[in-house]
Amino acid sequence: MPESAGTPPPEPESIEGLRDRIAVLEADLQELVYVASHDLTEPLRMVTSYLGLLQRRYGDQLDETAGEFIHYAVDGADRMRALLDDLLRYSRVGGDEPVRSPVDVDEVLGAVLRSLEPALADTGASVEVIGPLPRLDADEVQLGQLLQNLIANAAKFRPPERPNRVTVASVRDQEARAWRLTVADDGIGIDPKHRERIFQVFQRLHAREEFPGTGIGLAVCRRIVERMGGAISVESELGRGSTFHIVLPDVESAAV
Ligand SMILES: Nc1ncnc2c1ncn2[C@@H]1O[C@H](COP(=O)(O)OP(=O)(O)OP(=O)(O)O)[C@@H](O)[C@H]1O
Ligand SMILES: [Mg+2]
Repeated sequence: MPESAGTPPPEPESIEGLRDRIAVLEADLQELVYVASHDLTEPLRMVTSYLGLLQRRYGDQLDETAGEFIHYAVDGADRMRALLDDLLRYSRVGGDEPVRSPVDVDEVLGAVLRSLEPALADTGASVEVIGPLPRLDADEVQLGQLLQNLIANAAKFRPPERPNRVTVASVRDQEARAWRLTVADDGIGIDPKHRERIFQVFQRLHAREEFPGTGIGLAVCRRIVERMGGAISVESELGRGSTFHIVLPDVESAAV
């Protein structure tokens, strides 16, 4: 290229430089989401409590339609509160560095299944664990959240006529020096065109009336997995169940 006058082109930035800048941007964004959701909680609480007051003090002076309007407003405020709580939950995953220690995935799964007992009983889902699960250097709390979100989904998204069968398994990929965990179900499945979208914050493929939820679970999962240097993906077709794959590289290779 001929040399031109004016500002010389910037030096190409090193990978490390770019990484540092991304880290700073991430931290800023993190802070912003935290502050926004945290600070919105307070005024929202005010809305909810005054609506409650209106209902209690003036309920008998209002006609049926006014009562209905208040009900919708309370419902909206409750939903907003749930969304803000979810945003806070999501932003907290990115907060501190994951605390890694040797974790027995079998044990974590046991605790997760105990806490999911009511949800599993509600949906009628059965969970089968194939083979011994590995010991990993991981953040125990986050690994629990990850399994909990995936198994809750696997139980929830079922056809109306029968419960789902959920399978949790692991395979060692020696060459990649990684563990692959899978959570599979035989439920309603996901159209492959939504494979990426479902991992975004508040993206859902179903109405709340059909399946409850806000759409944060998989976004949290992706965040957790990526912070462990891994990757999460889904293999599915509509009506044919879904298999979520989590690849978690050994700590030495994750650090590179
Ligand atoms: N195992 C699954 N089978 C079919 N669809 C799924 C499955 N898991 C997730 N989905 C689809 O992806 C969407 C996003 O999942 P995600 O877990 O983030 O949200 P949610 O379960 O709807 O709400 P939340 O997890 O916040 O309670 C779901 O609403 C659903 O449409
Ligand atoms: Mg979910």
